[in-house]
Amino acid sequence: MRYRTLGRTGWEVSEIGFGAWGIGKHMWVGADDEESMRALHRAVDQGVNFIDTALAYGVGYSENLVGRFVKERSERIYVATKVPPKNRIWPSKGTLDEVFPPEYVIECAETSLANLGVNTLDLLQLHVWDARWFADSRWFEPLDSLRRQGKIRYFGISINDHDPDSALDIVGSGKIDTVQVIYNIFDQKPEDRLFPLCQQKNVGVIARVPFDEGALTGSISPDTSFPSGDWRNDYFRGDRKRQVHDRVEKLKGFLDTEAGALPDLALKFCLHHPAVGTVIPGMRKTSHVDANIAVTNTPPLSAHLVDRLREHRWEKNFYS
Ligand SMILES: NC(=O)c1ccc[n+]([C@@H]2O[C@H](COP(=O)([O-])OP(=O)(O)OC[C@H]3O[C@@H](n4cnc5c(N)ncnc54)[C@H](OP(=O)(O)O)[C@@H]3O)[C@@H](O)[C@H]2O)c1
Repeated sequence: MRYRTLGRTGWEVSEIGFGAWGIGKHMWVGADDEESMRALHRAVDQGVNFIDTALAYGVGYSENLVGRFVKERSERIYVATKVPPKNRIWPSKGTLDEVFPPEYVIECAETSLANLGVNTLDLLQLHVWDARWFADSRWFEPLDSLRRQGKIRYFGISINDHDPDSALDIVGSGKIDTVQVIYNIFDQKPEDRLFPLCQQKNVGVIARVPFDEGALTGSISPDTSFPSGDWRNDYFRGDRKRQVHDRVEKLKGFLDTEAGALPDLALKFCLHHPAVGTVIPGMRKTSHVDANIAVTNTPPLSAHLVDRLREHRWEKNFYS
């Protein structure tokens, strides 16, 4: 495993972190707690030391599982969690008072502390962000107060889907420690403005959804079906499975000694950018953990291959 500094936190985090949405069972159908725990152990056995969860992932289910898991280990594991929008609307919609009123942010942090069974949260992220809130200091006050009380170490935001530029003001202000953003072979937009600013301000970058919810692993074909109740029935609705399949087929032409499989190519693409501190694939199976971690034991992508992948940038928003 290779490690990188996560911005101003100074933490040396594993290049591959653990995305813990799926193990929360909410929206993702098919997780099994025993297998999830095995996957977490397998990840940490191989050097993973960063886990991303959220209060919203199964209404505390993922946090509880992660909290239980961390207690079974002696290693220092950094756990990031998130405050859900009060109105439960993703991406953000509404005023700061409707989405993150100060007393609500504090209340959620207290719940996350209890769920994770810790006295201090390593990293607390606002689970959505609207650039219009930046001018109102009340987004900052509860986070700053929690930090002064020793209840959180660092705080940041998780940026709305496909909208990295909405974080430019807040990153530029120097008031947050990290951002979490969608970054993958299709959505390369964070490279345009967000990443250079994060580097300038020493803000840590957590790259999420490296596989475009599974599309970039090559496992989605036009006749793929998801279990009933799984949110990906909506994400990949209509003609979308065919659209991603056609594009991913073209990426197969790049598989060679630099990346032998599509998941490797997808993760290595995220890791080629020096602004990225950690990339957090969602993983529920030990086999996926093994495959993803193996990526950090091989050389990074060449600049030539990265340049060729730039042609595969695809502006879309399947979340809407
Ligand atoms: N708004 C936000 O803040 C937000 C939104 C979305 C995600 N996130 C965070 O980002 C993390 C990652 O995003 P995501 O989980 O939505 O999507 P993702 O990482 O792009 O894709 C996850 C999918 O890829 C599969 N997978 C993982 N490794 C694989 C491999 N080597 N080969 C084949 N398939 C593989 C997973 O399967 P299995 O699950 O079966 O292992 C799962 O179906 C989340 O877990 C969460 O922590 C945050």
